[in-house]
Amino acid sequence: MRVLGIETSCDDTAAAVVIQRQGRLTVAANVVQSQLEVHAAYGGVVPELASRAHIRHVLPVVATALERAGLTLDALDGIAVTTGPGLVGALLVGVATAQGLAMARGLPLIGVHHMEGHLLSPFLVEPDFAFPCVALLVSGGHTLLVHARGFGDYHLLGQSLDDSVGEAFDKGARLLGLGYPGGPAIGALAVGGDPRAVPFPRVLLNRQACDFSFSGLKTALRTWLEKRENGGPTPSDVAASYQEALVTPLVIKALQACRLANTTRLVVAGGVGANRRLREKLQAEAEAAGIRVLFPPLEFCTDNGAMIALAGLRRLALGQQATAPLDARPRWSLAELAGPVRSL
Ligand code: KG4
Ligand code: ZN
Repeated sequence: MRVLGIETSCDDTAAAVVIQRQGRLTVAANVVQSQLEVHAAYGGVVPELASRAHIRHVLPVVATALERAGLTLDALDGIAVTTGPGLVGALLVGVATAQGLAMARGLPLIGVHHMEGHLLSPFLVEPDFAFPCVALLVSGGHTLLVHARGFGDYHLLGQSLDDSVGEAFDKGARLLGLGYPGGPAIGALAVGGDPRAVPFPRVLLNRQACDFSFSGLKTALRTWLEKRENGGPTPSDVAASYQEALVTPLVIKALQACRLANTTRLVVAGGVGANRRLREKLQAEAEAAGIRVLFPPLEFCTDNGAMIALAGLRRLALGQQATAPLDARPRWSLAELAGPVRSL
């Protein structure tokens, strides 16, 4: 089974081909065209500019993915596309493209939930990883803890009540005068810094629950920067301290979610999953708690078409496909996905 996945929900235009042969998955091509240079000057994603850049890039990116996979459209068994959540104009570019290609070639089309794509991304490289598990999904738009009981059967255990952790990284980076996206910039500056240099609060809310709150930390950083005195902590210390305050609740709540869900399997996905400190700390603490934690490789952590192709492939294999024209769903909760589908 060969599926093309198209992803345009935010600021990356991505397409990939995933092939399943005798139960084995191969990512035959994975192409991402970043829009960093378009948005960098604004310190964040400008939705209208994102839509226009997707329009310019989407067909060349799809063509490159097919070429690298050594396939033509006619050799595909289906096309999967992110239908939400995300920026409406950006989503519409992917949806219209996928729909046009599928219609022109008479191919099955399937709409995919972006966060289900992130959740399934570890399966691209770890075929043995199995449900049930807990997923910590940490991106620019979301911070979710999900109990994935089976394929398509997702129960929300907790989420951020305000900013996502990716947003907290990005806003913090702006306050520190670093570039966009802020996550990698803070991560790089924090290397060698002292994470205890500035006592930013650890916002844990109710200890028993799995919710997060990150907006206060950005305010704490702003206040600290306004009051700082000469000769204090270095920029590297400040970045390391801020990063530690963001990462610590993620680690504590992810382990708490595993306890609540009674599982010893944890996957981490989404852009912030690329953060080195999060990987180190979670790996060490999960191991001590007897929990196996899996991070997809970096290329599958941030937005990519392979995760969308995989989610589409799984659904197509179960006989699901779009029966009416697809629409973009900018707001779409993962919990709204139709109930249990079948174990992977
Ligand atoms: O999943 P993603 O690529 O796109 C969305 O669906 O939002 O996540 C993007 C987010 C941005 O906020 C970015 O700053 C953050 O992921 N990010 C990181 C790192 N790499 C990307 N945050 C912390 N450390 C990183 N190394
Ligand atoms: Zn994402």
